[in-house]
Amino acid sequence: MRVLVAGGAGYIGSHTVLSLVADGHEVVIADDFSNAKPTVLPRLEELAGTTLTSHRIDLTDRVATDRLFATERLDAVIHFAGLKAVGESAEKPLAYYDTNLSSTFSLLAAMRAHDVRRFVFSSSATVYGDSAPVPYHEDYRPLDASSPYGSTKVMIERVLSDVAHAEGFRVALLRYFNPVGAHESGTIGEDPQGIPNNLMPFIAQVAVGRRERLTVFGADYPTLDGTCRRDYIHVADLADGHVAALDHLDQMSAPVRAFNLGSGEPSSVLEMIAAFERASGRQIPYDVGPRRAGDLAEFWGDPARAATELGWRTSRSIDDMCADTWRWQSANPHGYPDA
Ligand code: WQD
Repeated sequence: MRVLVAGGAGYIGSHTVLSLVADGHEVVIADDFSNAKPTVLPRLEELAGTTLTSHRIDLTDRVATDRLFATERLDAVIHFAGLKAVGESAEKPLAYYDTNLSSTFSLLAAMRAHDVRRFVFSSSATVYGDSAPVPYHEDYRPLDASSPYGSTKVMIERVLSDVAHAEGFRVALLRYFNPVGAHESGTIGEDPQGIPNNLMPFIAQVAVGRRERLTVFGADYPTLDGTCRRDYIHVADLADGHVAALDHLDQMSAPVRAFNLGSGEPSSVLEMIAAFERASGRQIPYDVGPRRAGDLAEFWGDPARAATELGWRTSRSIDDMCADTWRWQSANPHGYPDA
């Protein structure tokens, strides 16, 4: 299929582009480059072994988005484009609601106008809220979120479900747990701008000498070693999960279906630090600080539905995630070049 990858220059989008090409699909990348650098594109083409069509576009612009669908013959959309920092969303809720919802409405309007009806959505485990029983199961209700970022995911899942039922769209809602890692080549990877919010990129920047020390946000949780436990998933496995969902859309039993994309195996902050030290041969100095507001002690996903219905499960280990992150970070200490 010819697939529009909205946000395709970003961390998960770029890895998904490679998985799509490897699976025989054609790709059209759309990105506004607000959180990605154009220098990822030649590296992607090198890894993909083919040229890639890409458009710099603001997907909240309905006219521009419709024009894109008029000029590119498309069979499906995978939607990664959006703002994604939980903490920032609490400071700028309107920007998050406007960008994340408007880009979705704009894509759906263009898809309907040009009869493109396959949609894979980048959702998040954050939609399970703070009180779902662990492991999280896709049928859990009520969905809820404790940040404006998470609320946009809950809202967009609802919009997509209604549109799928009323307008004959086929929609997969992919709920990610904690994506980490990098392509094994070490030439593409996660390149957060500014101080990383997430654990793995912060650890990697300490290892490579960009940051002095890690702060562990709390070691007094009711867990094995007192630190939070999360379901980390290698970004390459996550990318393959998108291709499996795309290939399954036409056979899905219902017009819309949610899938957890996780390993089902949690790891603690201290376990991630130890794994990264093993992978990099570098010590990761850290201090224990206060808990971060909003963090849950532990959660992970029930991965059974993706295994039985998509034939997909994670294959890469925590050590693979750390080794691949280190290869990327040590080869690119400051991430992608600007030009
Ligand atoms: C993991 C653990 C922190 C940084 C978030 C979003 C979620 C999704 C994935 C978008 C926690 C601890 C972290 C640090 C630390 N994003 N930590 N020191 O919070 O599980 O999930 O990213 O979809 O929506 O909520 O991931 O990597 O931020 O934190 O101790 O410098 O590492 O407290 O326990 P999280 P994370």
